[in-house]
Amino acid sequence: MSDVHLTDISTLRERARHNVENGAVTEGYDGDREEIIRLLNASLATEWVCVLRYKRHYYMAKGVKAQVAAAEFLEHAEQEAEHADKLAERIVQLGGEPELNPDLLSKNSHAQYVAGNTLKEMVTEDLIAERIAIDSYREIIQYIGDKDPTTRRIFEEILAQEEEHADDMADILDGL
Ligand SMILES: [Fe+2]
Ligand SMILES: [Fe+2]
Repeated sequence: MSDVHLTDISTLRERARHNVENGAVTEGYDGDREEIIRLLNASLATEWVCVLRYKRHYYMAKGVKAQVAAAEFLEHAEQEAEHADKLAERIVQLGGEPELNPDLLSKNSHAQYVAGNTLKEMVTEDLIAERIAIDSYREIIQYIGDKDPTTRRIFEEILAQEEEHADDMADILDGL
């Protein structure tokens, strides 16, 4: 038997009626909401910087050798945009506001925007950015722990895809 305390039905029902304006954030929410929203916004910025970097690389990838890479750049750009959407939706659920001011995106982002000149430079920069995202998301997951299972699950799903992205870039880099 676990020693997790389960709240009785009447208390659950009673609590849910308080602060209804908080929407999905109930009294049982254990997280530091402001800090989690800040982390979500930093990650949202990271995702947008990655969308823009992959788009740039997609348009700039030239030559026969670049065809495979270009297809990956485009797919990754689309998936980073999906990650951004999931993070923005969660920020709103938690009562925060998604920060999408372009002037703040590169400042708040963990990963960097590097244009890159050659295909090799582009793929290398993408791999580095993925590795930064992987480390920061892993840390965020550890920080969240059991405090906010929904946000943690979102980060876990995104982390798994960033690891695939890093693997894709490493494979391409190998062939260059
Ligand atoms: Fe992403
Ligand atoms: Fe990625």
